[in-house]
Amino acid sequence: MSNNWDLGKLKKQAIGNQKFDEYVLNESGILEYSNLKVLDIGCSNGFKTKMLFDKYDNITSITGIDTDENAINEAKVNFIEDKKYSFELKSIDNLNKCSTYDVINLSYVLQHLEHPQEILKKLKSILTDRGIIIIKVPDDSFKFCYPDNEDLLHKIFYLYENEIMKKQNITKYTDRYIGKKVYNYLVQNDYNNIKLYYSVSDTIGKTVEQRLKFFDSSIGFRSAMNKSNVSEKVKNEMEELLYKLKQNFQKEDFYYTMTVLYYIASK
Ligand SMILES: C[S@@+](CC[C@H](N)C(=O)[O-])C[C@H]1O[C@@H](n2cnc3c(N)ncnc32)[C@H](O)[C@@H]1O
Repeated sequence: MSNNWDLGKLKKQAIGNQKFDEYVLNESGILEYSNLKVLDIGCSNGFKTKMLFDKYDNITSITGIDTDENAINEAKVNFIEDKKYSFELKSIDNLNKCSTYDVINLSYVLQHLEHPQEILKKLKSILTDRGIIIIKVPDDSFKFCYPDNEDLLHKIFYLYENEIMKKQNITKYTDRYIGKKVYNYLVQNDYNNIKLYYSVSDTIGKTVEQRLKFFDSSIGFRSAMNKSNVSEKVKNEMEELLYKLKQNFQKEDFYYTMTVLYYIASK
């Protein structure tokens, strides 16, 4: 079973999303206030936490929690000199109900939780009156391509979800289609001022090299070659599907698109 996220991959992804992450934070209006307290849930080694929140003087306290021990240890070492930051090895399930926050950030985390609706209910109780929750999530139904006569994209999704994803510790609860559901979860939990932003990327105007990189980050991570609990048959089947679809990404007339969803809400 895989127990740890690939921190190198997360860093690359963070850099790729940086501009839109900043755009959403600015749009939220929260930066108009002073003395802000941030909670970054699933902060990993804090690289992205710093990238998004460090430059604002009015953010005076940043707490990161994660269940990945290696990542949290790395964060503790890297931020030892900066008193604004604190990192804790802690699950979202064990949050202290006495502390409240002005910004609660969940970047690519909600989709991995067993009970996302219950967690959202809990998080509302630790938001300040002026506070906001920012939730960044994927949804594979916002991914499509053309031409794909063999329906490779959906075969890859199907094989990953049914034979690979659930057999890895870190993705055993993952919902690859959560993006469309979060609005309903927020309304059900009586959140207010809900806003949704879409960050759309596609292959148009990209060089072959950029297209191949895009393939690797958006689809290629489903490879099972380095994953445990997966049969050789499934590993090979996935490699073949990925290889074939990757060939298409080299063609100039091939189109692929994906969308990342960002929700903001207050209590
Ligand atoms: C896909 S990574 C995203 C990391 C980072 N937020 C980013 O956007 O790059 C998901 C992170 O959530 C953490 N995580 C998963 N379940 C968690 C839980 N119950 N409580 C706290 N963190 C959790 C994982 O350990 C991992 O670091």
